[in-house]
Amino acid sequence: MTEPIYKTDALIAEDIDAYLVQHQNKSLLRFITCGSVDDGKSTLIGRLLYDSKMIFEDQLAALEADSKRVGTQGQEIDFALLVDGLAAEREQGITIDVAYRFFATEKRKFIVADTPGHEQYTRNMVTGASTADLAVILIDARKGVLTQTRRHSYLAHLIGIRNIVLAVNKMDLVDYDLAIFDAIVKDYREFADSIGIESFTAIPISGFKGDNITTTPSPNTPWYKGPALIAHLESVEIDNVSDQAKPFRMPVQWVNRPNLDFRGFSGLIASGSVKPGDAIRVLPSGKTSTISKVVTMPGKAGPASGTGGDGDLDEAVAGQSVTLTLADEVDCSRGDVIAVADNPPEASSQFEATIVWMDDAALHVGRSYWLKLGTQMVSATVHAPKYTVNVNTMEHLAAKTLELNAIGVAEIATDRAIVFEPYADNRTLGGFILIDKISNRTVGAGMLNFSLRRAQNVHWQPTDITRQEHARLKNQTPRVLWFTGLSGSGKSTIANEVEKSLNLMNRHTFLLDGDNVRHGLNKDLGFTEADRIENIRRVGEVARLMADAGLIVLTAFISPFRAERELVRAMLPEGEFIEIFVDTPLNVAEARDVKGLYKKARSGQLKNFTGIDSPYEPPEHPEIRVNTVEMTPAEAAEHIIRQIMPLK
Ligand code: ADX
Repeated sequence: MTEPIYKTDALIAEDIDAYLVQHQNKSLLRFITCGSVDDGKSTLIGRLLYDSKMIFEDQLAALEADSKRVGTQGQEIDFALLVDGLAAEREQGITIDVAYRFFATEKRKFIVADTPGHEQYTRNMVTGASTADLAVILIDARKGVLTQTRRHSYLAHLIGIRNIVLAVNKMDLVDYDLAIFDAIVKDYREFADSIGIESFTAIPISGFKGDNITTTPSPNTPWYKGPALIAHLESVEIDNVSDQAKPFRMPVQWVNRPNLDFRGFSGLIASGSVKPGDAIRVLPSGKTSTISKVVTMPGKAGPASGTGGDGDLDEAVAGQSVTLTLADEVDCSRGDVIAVADNPPEASSQFEATIVWMDDAALHVGRSYWLKLGTQMVSATVHAPKYTVNVNTMEHLAAKTLELNAIGVAEIATDRAIVFEPYADNRTLGGFILIDKISNRTVGAGMLNFSLRRAQNVHWQPTDITRQEHARLKNQTPRVLWFTGLSGSGKSTIANEVEKSLNLMNRHTFLLDGDNVRHGLNKDLGFTEADRIENIRRVGEVARLMADAGLIVLTAFISPFRAERELVRAMLPEGEFIEIFVDTPLNVAEARDVKGLYKKARSGQLKNFTGIDSPYEPPEHPEIRVNTVEMTPAEAAEHIIRQIMPLK
């Protein structure tokens, strides 16, 4: 083994705070190592840490365990100083397990994301890669370019990593043979060209023996003229620097208002630079103003800033967290983006995106998920994928949905416009995650490729007669009485009784019934999960329109999924959606079997039948529950009428 050239910094032991401050002004390189244990990955990482002698693994483990909480509070060590970048990632909401390690040399700080190499860990690798500037692709010199080498390279490139290091490891086991190294590099170059990787740095190493890790040339590879691995990691240009040349953009994280005299907008500068006097535009509103002051946040100077203290700055650049004050009173809140006035990013609500699916449960096409892009959070639905990519061969495959670890290209629609840039131009404003609204799990991560032009040409047309006028004329408050329950539970019968009573009370009503709507509006839909989701989405939209028209709407649909019922609830003003659970146990509904469908389903003639081979998710907190075992339909209807009275 060679002697480590980076000596333990005595300051770590003596005064950790002083040490951290000293290191604060070093630039930070985040990288990912791709490969498997067999390739010698652990040995290599171990050596990097050992040679730099500055390990905080325990601290980082603690930090990870704490991944739910954002920011650090009151610990002895301010981890944010170590891992500015990790805080951003946790704020982003990605909590997939990835091991991070921190080390530092005299020139730079490093965070290594160490993810397992197998295909079933694609989501972990994507998570680790999402904030990395560089990828080290490990190759076993005895084996050459393998399927997994191609997969890792494709993913790293897809996620926007522009610095690729091909670390040809275990050179000691092939007698440091130049011909073998050359053949591997040639092989890799061909592949790299085929997927658009423009350049990479190939380094012959031995993680075990230490060749070309810290010093070059190793006496064993006199033919190698390039840098040692650490020297390369220390000198490679990081994205922060190239981002600084781009137009100014800062997503607003929070509005900073410590007192009445100060109103600042805080955030991390995603690209470009900003200084007092600059003309800016707030998006999506488009309002313009001028920068008055650029203030640093205490202890939050960015990695490339070179500034440590607080106070006003002459200029701030990409990678720095700052607070901006504006010359005018402009509306601006969390989720907005402050950008240079004459070259702002676009806003759109329809996109083509590349999505990596991260959840055990497959994507539900058409379901509404939360989409979080930077500090913006909107509702979004994903269309059926155009294709998925076989990550081993890069082939395009036809697919109806996205399963765990799948990578696919699909159209996405959001419920309101978001400010964005294509991921290829700006990772911060083009990268997003999808969150399941019920479980709150991060289910996917994605990249916006471009906005669909049709979205730009459809606007909202205001009308003068509002829903209030419609309701006033009918002298009632609009409601949606949403009946849900198994097939044969009695939804239609009870809803029909309720409508009759309301009609007698001179209420203006309309009953939307599952079987009936499926004869017309929804006759193109069947009973797959995707079709049921679309069925309920459409019925929800129709119910909303009818409520806007001032009606009391009754709907009788199985509506088996909580997510879609909650979607409809969210479409309506507070209190207008009344969920009525027609609570009939499966065995009772099956015994009734009014339409003979349970019999068919049991005998296998009818597939995807709710309660048999398709799920039903009962409401957790319905406004009203009726028990049809104990009540007749007329009694159930009366019970409901009593609950919703007094209906104005
Ligand atoms: S939902 O699941 O999409 O809400 P919806 O209420 O519109 O279903 O339609 C349910 C009705 O369709 C049932 O009452 C039944 O008459 C009929 N039906 C036909 N096939 C199925 C099936 N596979 N599962 C459930 N209902 C079915």
